[in-house]
Parts: sequence; C-alpha cells; structure tokens
Amino acid sequence: MPTRPLSDYLAEIDGADRTGLEALRVQWLGRHGSLTAALRELGTLGPKERRTAGQELNALKQAVEERLLARQRQLQAQALSSRLDNERVDLSLPGEPVALGHPHPLAVTQERLVSTFVAMGFAMAVGPEVEDDWHNFEALNFPPDHPARDMQDSFALADGGWLLRTHTSPVQIRAMQQAAPGPLRIIAPGRVYRRDDDATHASTFHQIEALVIDRGVSMAHLKATLKTFARALFGADVPLRFRPSYFPFTEPSAELDIGCLFCQQAGCAICKLSGWLEVLGSGMVHPKVLQAGGYDPERMTGFAFGLGIERIAMLYYQIPDIRLMLQGDLRFLSQF
Ligand code: DAH
Repeated sequence: MPTRPLSDYLAEIDGADRTGLEALRVQWLGRHGSLTAALRELGTLGPKERRTAGQELNALKQAVEERLLARQRQLQAQALSSRLDNERVDLSLPGEPVALGHPHPLAVTQERLVSTFVAMGFAMAVGPEVEDDWHNFEALNFPPDHPARDMQDSFALADGGWLLRTHTSPVQIRAMQQAAPGPLRIIAPGRVYRRDDDATHASTFHQIEALVIDRGVSMAHLKATLKTFARALFGADVPLRFRPSYFPFTEPSAELDIGCLFCQQAGCAICKLSGWLEVLGSGMVHPKVLQAGGYDPERMTGFAFGLGIERIAMLYYQIPDIRLMLQGDLRFLSQF
C-alpha cells in the first residue's frame, strides 16, 4: 500500500490555501486520486491483508477528509472575518447631508394672508383661470371698448371669447351668483395673467380678492377691515393712507398705501422718495356689478378689494425683482 503517514497529509492540508486545498482533494480523493487508487487496489489483496490494509486506509481517508473539511471551514471563516474588517461601518463618520425643502416665499405669504382673512370671518372661494370676457370684464363694468381694459392686457385664447383671467375679480361675479340674494363674505386667492414682463410686473402672478355684501355695508366697514388686516400683517403702528382711485367695478374706489417699511417714510428708492407703498385696490361694489351678480343694489351694498400676493411678498422680504418668484432658482429660494 503506497501511502504516506497521516501527519504528511495533515501538514499539507494545514498549509494549503483555498485553491490549494481543492487541488489536494482532487489529487487524493478524486476519481484518479492516489487514495482512491489505493482503495481500489485493496481488491487485489488476499482477504486477511485486505482487512488490515482496508482498516488502515479507510481510517487514513476519513482523517484526511475530516481535516480537509476542517481546513475549508477555517479558510471560509478567515475570509469572512477579513471581509467584515474591510467593510466595517464607521458610525462616527459624519453623514451625507440631506437638503430639506421648505415652502416657497409666495406660498408662505399667501398662507399668512389667507389665515388673516379667515380669522376675520371670510370664507374661501375659487374660480377658473380660463375665463370668458363677460366674467373677466363686462360683468365688472368694463364695456367692450372701455379704455380701462388696456391696463389689463390679456392673453386671449384663439377659441372665441375665452381668455386667461387678468385678475381675481371675476370670482366676485361667480360668488355673487351663487349667494344672491343672501349676504356674502369671501376671499379668493389665485393665479392671474397679463401681458406684462418687467422687474415689477410678471406675466403670471397671484392675487387675493375679497368681497363682502350685506345690508348696510359702507365705506366705514371697508376701512375698518383694511385697517385690521394691514395691522395684522405689517404691525400695529404701520401708517395707513386711503387714496382715491379708479376701478370700473367700484364706486367710489380707493387704494391703500402703507408707510414705507424700508425707510420709515424718510424717502428711499423702494418708495420712490414718497414715503408710501401701494398695497391694494378697493372700493364700494358698483351697482351695475351688484346687478350682474344677481343683487338688487337698492337693497344690498358691498365692498371689495384685491391685492397682489407677489407685491406683498416683495415688500415683506425686500425682493427687488418679481420674476425671481417664478424662476425656481435655488440660489434665490434657499434664502428663505
Ligand atoms: N382687480 C384689480 C386689479 O387687478 C384689483 C382690485 C381693485 C380689486 C379694486 C378689487 C377692487 O376688488 O375693489 O388691478
């Protein structure tokens, strides 16, 4: 029986790496392996010899197989632990920063305005951004050739009579038609469009419309409402000015100015040295508008006002160019 002592085999096994180990297994125990051959040769021996040699050989083979398996497990364990060493997570490393988003300054401003009015008892109303000429102009007392239409140059849609609304005032008409002949107290925030494009006028912007209709509503109610609102938004000490103005859908009409927030009325570039900033347009709802909305102007009166949300945000945050509001530039947005 041409076999070597067990210790030779074991020494070789213990010195082998993973590939070496497999080679040894093939060399000894494979189909043409030396131990396989020796076992096969047992058949050529006489019965007595075969028994002793067989016992020895099988014991050897078993010991070799066990050691091969043990060594294999040992190598696997080593490989695993060195992989774990390499892949260890260092929990003390600083993490990847995650950029958190936040509401757009315009959304923040709209929310503040809306909640101020809601606290004063106004309900929310909405209307479509694509309007017809009647709701956007005619019902608001802009006759077809009225020059006031020029101030609100609009985007007309090709399809006869439709346009992108130039202001939120058409929501007044829609709300009146729903509520008449009963009282009404609504605000209507929303997007509006005009053919304008410069540092203080954008082609797309936002307004909030307010409308109150009831018996005996007067200019005093309008003033008190605007005063309450302006103080809530700009502070109790803000100087206010009510200045006569013109809108086709109100009579009389007035604009509300606040004392310049930037120079405390000393005069600066933002208030164009006047000490005042324009905030909104307002007035008593014109009898013809009340009629268009389904009310009897002899019985019910109302006031309305409308303000530009971008304008308020620009004043509040001192933003010099309205177009920044629409551009989605992170260098701008991340400042808020
Ligand atoms: N619709 C006007 C505009 O866009 C703003 C306005 C003025 C609304 C007076 C009103 C109002 O409700 O009474 O310029």
